[in-house]
Amino acid sequence: MSMNMNMALFLMFLVLHIAWLVASSDLRAGFYSKTCPKAEVIVRDVMKKALMREARSVASVMRFQFHDCFVNGCDGSMLLDDTATMLGEKMALSNINSLRSYKVVDQVKQALEKDCPGVVSCADIIIMASRDAVALTGGPEWEVRLGRLDSLSASQEDSNNIMPSPRANASSLIDLFQKYNLSVKDLVALSGSHSIGQGRCFSIMFRLYNQSGTGRPDPAIDPSYRQELNRICPLDVDQNVTGNLDSTPLVFDNQYFKDLVAGRGFLNSDQTLFTSPHTREFVRLFSRRQTEFFKAFVEGMLKMGDLQSGRPGEVRTNCRFVNARPANLLLQSPRDMESNDK
Ligand code: HEM
Ligand SMILES: *[C@@H]1O[C@H](CO)[C@@H](O)[C@H](O)[C@H]1NC(C)=O
Ligand SMILES: *[C@@H]1O[C@H](CO)[C@@H](O)[C@H](O)[C@H]1NC(C)=O
Ligand SMILES: *[C@@H]1O[C@H](CO)[C@@H](O)[C@H](O)[C@H]1NC(C)=O
Ligand SMILES: *[C@@H]1O[C@H](CO)[C@@H](O)[C@H](O)[C@H]1NC(C)=O
Repeated sequence: MSMNMNMALFLMFLVLHIAWLVASSDLRAGFYSKTCPKAEVIVRDVMKKALMREARSVASVMRFQFHDCFVNGCDGSMLLDDTATMLGEKMALSNINSLRSYKVVDQVKQALEKDCPGVVSCADIIIMASRDAVALTGGPEWEVRLGRLDSLSASQEDSNNIMPSPRANASSLIDLFQKYNLSVKDLVALSGSHSIGQGRCFSIMFRLYNQSGTGRPDPAIDPSYRQELNRICPLDVDQNVTGNLDSTPLVFDNQYFKDLVAGRGFLNSDQTLFTSPHTREFVRLFSRRQTEFFKAFVEGMLKMGDLQSGRPGEVRTNCRFVNARPANLLLQSPRDMESNDK
């Protein structure tokens, strides 16, 4: 294609305002107060309805914040469906057959597009909806910083490389969180998100029947709780069957930490926080003082929510797809150029 043609299309691209913005913008509370004043009310409303329809769904949505923010920043990348040219994150190791309730985010987006089209990013929806999930299930309430942009791509490979396994031990989790400047206290508090929701037998079979290849169960599991888990997840179970992550899975409280102290953590990555001397004191503290847990959890969510990629972004119209962009035909996205360089 001729240079002039390129230039003409580039100008058209600008004129059509289909421009990319840079995603490392400053986040702030009340970001939509002028452009979409009802945004936070609308998100809360859809989350309330989701809670009434299926109580677990709000936990499932809250988990999105972790899986979004740890993989190239909080940019809604994990919401993108696969395309012919891009393997998205939905099929990544930690997400496949596991992340759920994407439809709740679609419903939030639809409601927002009706009120103020093209304004509120999917990345911000995840942040608001996660806050709401906690507030609606009895947890703390906090003000979120907003103004994120949605990514132009997703990376299954990055998700595979980054997201921790349910088998993870405390030291590897400490190291992982450290990479994001999240402290040991942040790690323990954020793991308290498992105060709500469920996990699959798939995630605990090894610790019930063959911890570290010993042919034995994880000795850290309380014997009567192990019997309970063995009943839910016998050796021949359909491994999609789920169990509760703590004994009050619909209430956001510090029961999760009390359960860990009693050897009744569901995931190995949960129980290891009490086994390890590096994290044990925080587990103890949070098990005794719910207000300390809530305070540390809010701090952790805010820090995790501030992770950004610095890459170009946009406000998607549909959280599952990058916006249609005629200029795509000839302009490479900056990330494509990046990968061509290497
Ligand atoms: C510390 C490292 C973490 C590990 C290893 C981990 C791992 C897991 C696993 C394996 C499950 C069950 C998935 C399944 O069996 O299908 C799960 C569920 C869940 N995780 Fe985490 N997680 C971690 C941290 C977090 C964080 C930081 C959050 C949010 C702030 C979070 C929120 C949740 C929620 C709410 C569920 C239940 C979801 C549902 O019921 O659908 N997790 N996690
Ligand atoms: C924790 O897990 C890592 C990675 O799997 C492993 O290299 C390390 O030896 C484990 N640490 C302990 C204390 O078990
Ligand atoms: C962590 O903090 C250091 C020092 O302030 C900073 O250079 C680095 O970019 C931060 N890393 C992340 C992932 O935010
Ligand atoms: C337990 O795991 C080890 C190592 O991964 C494996 O060699 C062994 O066959 C497993 N045992 C059972 C009973 O699955
Ligand atoms: C869970 O269900 C999915 C979809 O029905 C299936 O593809 C997958 O193999 C099942 N996973 C396990 C661990 O049984």
